Amino acid sequence: MFAVRKTVIAASCLMMLAGGAYAASDWLKGSADEKMKTLAEIQPGLGTVMIEYSGRYTNMYYAAKGGNWGLADYMLKEAREIQEVGETTRPGRAASLKAFEQAYLDPLEKTIKAKDFKAFRTAFNRGIEGCNGCHASNGFPFIKYQLPKAPFTPLSVKPCRCRIERRGGSPHVIVRPVLACADMRMRAPAGDG
Ligand code: HEC
Repeated sequence: MFAVRKTVIAASCLMMLAGGAYAASDWLKGSADEKMKTLAEIQPGLGTVMIEYSGRYTNMYYAAKGGNWGLADYMLKEAREIQEVGETTRPGRAASLKAFEQAYLDPLEKTIKAKDFKAFRTAFNRGIEGCNGCHASNGFPFIKYQLPKAPFTPLSVKPCRCRIERRGGSPHVIVRPVLACADMRMRAPAGDG
């Protein structure tokens, strides 16, 4: 009797779980076109994109300052990628976003490649003027980026003595010695060399 009741409870839990999983996508209604439109409408607009953009910009600064140039380079690449989302969902802003990228992010990338913090800081501050200039000229003079006192990322900004090679398109991390890179919590993928 007791065992039976237990089985019934377990079965109803499973059904609730299954029901929950079904309900998770049940909100998407209508024809295929209508569903597509609903999905398109909830893609991130510029405000949401900018939150990540500014986070990447901030983290890039602290990574460069700490001497983790690999992380600074990564943050810049990710900033460019989230910018592309903004260019796609807000095509009206695409030209000025691209212009900003060329005028400010390309020079920043050069200073990262050169691992030159002094030049980086100059290019970074120039970039801030570019960010806030675009806000002002688009009717948002009250949106002013200022460098936060600490990065947003839990990642270490200490220099990482590891070499990253690309093999067959995927990054392959060569950690030498392993402990020197413990900060970055990265390991070569298992079974990959
Ligand atoms: C092409 C113009 C343009 C550039 C360049 C630009 N922004 Fe923005 N940003 C905007 C606009 C427009 C908004 C207002 C959001 C909206 O339209 O929904 C915004 C909003 C923001 C916000 C507020 C987001 C929120 O809602 O909390 C932040 C933070 C921000 N930008 C940071 C930056 C940083 C940092 C840079 C430079 C690295 C930058 N932006 C470059 C146009 C730009």
